[in-house]
Amino acid sequence: MGFEDKIKELLDKRELAKLGGGKKRIDSQHAKGKLTARERIDLLLDEGSFEEFDMFVTHRCKDFGLENQIYMSDGVVTGHGTIDGRVVYVFSQDFTVFGGSLSETYANKICKVMDQAMKVGAPVIGINDSGGARIQEGVTSLAGYAEIFERNILASGVIPQISAIFGPCAGGAVYSPALTDFIVMSKKTSNMFVTGPKVVKTVTGEVVTDEELGGAMVHGTKSGVAHFVADDEKEGISLIRKLLSFLPQNNLEDPPIALTADPIDRLEDSLNYFIPENPNKPYDMKDVIHAIVDTAEFLEIQRLYAPNIITGFARFNGMPVGIVANQPNYLAGVLDINASRKAARFVRFCDGFNIPLLTLVDVPGFLPGTTQEYGGIIIHGAKLLFAYGEATVPKVTVILRKAYGGAYDVMSSKHLRGDINYAWPTAEIAVMGPKGAIEVLHSKKIAELTDPDERAAFITKAESEYKDKFANPYNAARYGFIDDVIEPRNTRFRIIRALQALATKKDSNPPKKHSNIPL
Ligand code: HXC
Repeated sequence: MGFEDKIKELLDKRELAKLGGGKKRIDSQHAKGKLTARERIDLLLDEGSFEEFDMFVTHRCKDFGLENQIYMSDGVVTGHGTIDGRVVYVFSQDFTVFGGSLSETYANKICKVMDQAMKVGAPVIGINDSGGARIQEGVTSLAGYAEIFERNILASGVIPQISAIFGPCAGGAVYSPALTDFIVMSKKTSNMFVTGPKVVKTVTGEVVTDEELGGAMVHGTKSGVAHFVADDEKEGISLIRKLLSFLPQNNLEDPPIALTADPIDRLEDSLNYFIPENPNKPYDMKDVIHAIVDTAEFLEIQRLYAPNIITGFARFNGMPVGIVANQPNYLAGVLDINASRKAARFVRFCDGFNIPLLTLVDVPGFLPGTTQEYGGIIIHGAKLLFAYGEATVPKVTVILRKAYGGAYDVMSSKHLRGDINYAWPTAEIAVMGPKGAIEVLHSKKIAELTDPDERAAFITKAESEYKDKFANPYNAARYGFIDDVIEPRNTRFRIIRALQALATKKDSNPPKKHSNIPL
């Protein structure tokens, strides 16, 4: 074979590999409203930056007639490229080849990019669209999954790992995305479940559709498995690019600073009058977030799940910050099981990747009741407490209104190594709200007062005394638990100053194999 023929052979092979399972299956993929594995990579990476590995890999299975069905790349496209000029590793499952099912060689390809990403210290993005273990390969396919799981586990906290689910992701296959840091799902075209509708019907008799069992909305709102629910794949991919813009390449780097034209000392006068006079009146904490961060840009994580707590990324003077904020607009911003789990995982992610934490507090306490107690609010609430207490990144806290009871302690208080703790003049820092406190403190006296007017007058007076004493930030400030009471309109500036001061913060935890976070 002459030189030119050799080049032609190479180019032909490449073209063949690019066809995956063939034109018919590509058309069928498009007809379902889905992109192909390669189209997704092209959208995800900077133009022309993709360098592919293992295009010529084929499976080794000789059973069930598979020896006659050979597809180059074997159902997964892998390699590296850049996003905003920074290196990332990717694997993108190709549904057109055996339904994207995972073989031994396919798993080896994924493991190869994961291993190299760990050596290089770069994020891994996995695009999932697969029928699960390749049935014809049996245990070697299961082994392949476990090899990937082990790598997901060892990479956790070292490099960011992001999963996109753009098709089926069923059975044990769900556990690789579950081990990664963020999951993006596309509406209508993706689903995740440990057992599919057919098995559910056989085992439990329950009749349920794919979408009802494990669609994007289910995991975005009910289970909390999905961090982002995208309208379509394009939106999902642009969310991944945006998310990465806040993250360092690995746990030894700082997050990337962006240029901003938003002035450090921009005053937001409206915030001085923002908190309603009636302490029971809700407001939207996102208005505060948008008002104080750079150019009102906030990337919310798990927006639809446990909306009583808000988590997400923003920038202050270009510095990426993880924000955790109670949301008075939903269940009065109470801490419940789901909110505690959501925020705890976010706090731990930020701490693992050197992203400072800003906590905005307006919390009436933990949600009471049997549902919460039977569900283990003690353990789940402890997760958030643990996550904050363990975190060594810069921690800045602003109490806007209520900080009651255990929830005061939990929300990045001074006592959990909060570095800079501010309060607005509207802050109320106490063991509980005035009404509850008076009922506990004066229950006997209130019962003795039979005249309703006298009783009402007594309660009003007692509540007013309590409010004067505790429904303000100054009692906490007197003990140094609050570093300063700040003018709300100046919040952005004070946070930026705090973050600047803390930029070189060093703190550590006692040496140990690992902690025993309440799981
Ligand atoms: C081999 C598979 C396959 C699989 C699909 N295909 N899944 N081949 N192993 N697991 C093939 C089909 O034979 C078909 O081949 C092509 O992929 C497309 O599949 P269709 O069924 O035609 O597509 P669709 O109707 O869109 O349905 C997609 C699907 C369905 C919902 C994913 O294929 C399905 O239910 N597959 C089985 C899913 C499953 O039970 N997997 C095992 C889960 S357990 P042709 O040649 O016709 O194009 C698991 C364990 C992991 O994964 C363990 C980790 C610890």
